[in-house]
Amino acid sequence: VYRAMARPSARAGAIFTDKERKTKMADYREIYANKLTTAEEAAGRVQDGWLIGMDAAVAAPPALVSAIAARAARGEISGVKIDTLLDVYPFEFYADDSLNGRFNGSSWFSSAGARKAVNGGWGDFMPAYYRDIPGDIQRLYDHDVYITEVSPMDKHGYFSMGTVGSLSEASIDKAKRIFVVVNDKQPRAVCAQQIHVSQVDAIIEDSHDLAVLPPTKIDEISATIGGYIAEQIPDGACIQLGIGAIPDATGIALKSKHDLGIHTEMFTDSMVELIACGAVNNSKKQIHRGKTVTTFAFGSKRIYDYIDDNPAIEILPVNYVNDPAVICKNDNMISINAAVEVDLWGQVCAESIGTKHLSGTGGQVDFVRGACQSRGGKSFIAFTSTAKGGTISKIQPILTPGALCTTSKNDVDYIVTEYGIAQLRGLSLSKRVKNLISIAHPDFRDELTFEAKKRGMI
Ligand code: COA
Repeated sequence: VYRAMARPSARAGAIFTDKERKTKMADYREIYANKLTTAEEAAGRVQDGWLIGMDAAVAAPPALVSAIAARAARGEISGVKIDTLLDVYPFEFYADDSLNGRFNGSSWFSSAGARKAVNGGWGDFMPAYYRDIPGDIQRLYDHDVYITEVSPMDKHGYFSMGTVGSLSEASIDKAKRIFVVVNDKQPRAVCAQQIHVSQVDAIIEDSHDLAVLPPTKIDEISATIGGYIAEQIPDGACIQLGIGAIPDATGIALKSKHDLGIHTEMFTDSMVELIACGAVNNSKKQIHRGKTVTTFAFGSKRIYDYIDDNPAIEILPVNYVNDPAVICKNDNMISINAAVEVDLWGQVCAESIGTKHLSGTGGQVDFVRGACQSRGGKSFIAFTSTAKGGTISKIQPILTPGALCTTSKNDVDYIVTEYGIAQLRGLSLSKRVKNLISIAHPDFRDELTFEAKKRGMI
């Protein structure tokens, strides 16, 4: 089990200059002052062809990225690449195709910006299970600089990584340089990755509000689906909720439960709500008892306030949090994730609309597998039965040509729509087909039955 404590980085490297040693190690403010610079000056150190590393969501430092983009726009640098994961700021290298060739992004998991650039051809994409990315960084990615926002330095000279801990341990260990942007709006996460002032090469200060996730609209259908799943979740279960309206609706439907635990990839608003109302106390977990475990948090200011100085939440590296062998250690592990479509075999697409890129695999497969291996565990993939105003069934005879299979037919467990829950895992093809058709929208059931018969599936 990961140490339930603050995690100072083990990175050797930049450490103290001779002058700094003489000034007494404890005078961290002097070291800080010596490394303090501006975003423009730090961006000025970036050279042609550099590869830049960042962690997910609000770990990204928008002021520094903009300063690098401004240099690219002026034609001062070219061939610079940057790796992103869940881009939540309007990054210029995704928004502006005129930077193509000078400053390009490559995405492990896309929001609107990366989506536009990847589909447009000036952004690249890196397929991966989220839990494998730290290992990939160690093996394959020579980041010339790792850039991250941090909370203000503590009296011991440490900066906390704030709300995100997924890639920072591997990245800090591997990158040639570290530039940190101190933002006093970043919460100080105490049970999370820390970096010492001696280990960083440049410090920039930028006070700004963190990006927030607009609250999801929980409509009647999402609430119905959330209600079905909530019925399947016993008191004392440990939950993971993915991205999207239905995982959020499920979270809200769990408010009447007791002694729930959280072991999740993304810590969300509905989870803060569950903690606040007492439904979650983490008391029945087999590992990290008493603590919420996540690899990053993203949502409203309420989440960031909750994390600040709070020893009840651990923000740990994704290679640990998303490892199915770790996830399954908690009994009654329940994972809830969304999808775009599913075929009659049970193959789940959650990352493209046909050939059009939408997001990434993220932790969906990791949590499906971890939940299914847990004693009493279950995994739910949930979505409304139709898309585009009821014109398209999300249960299809075959996946749309070009659609990416996120969760395989062998991993899938339960599929949920507003018409009920279909059990698939371990069942024969014909039983899967019947179960899936029974939860398809009634308007599409005859067509699905016809197609299934045509293929000899039933
Ligand atoms: N055919 C055509 N369009 C479809 C569709 C389908 N079968 N299913 C969804 N869409 C469209 C929607 O209409 C919507 O388009 P719009 O933005 O123009 O309105 C868009 O795709 C997103 O669909 P929606 O259902 O609103 O998405 P969501 O916010 O609930 O997120 C995923 C769903 C699948 C994108 C999201 O869960 C995800 O990124 N998953 C990645 C894998 C994962 O689960 N990782 C673990 C997370 S911790």
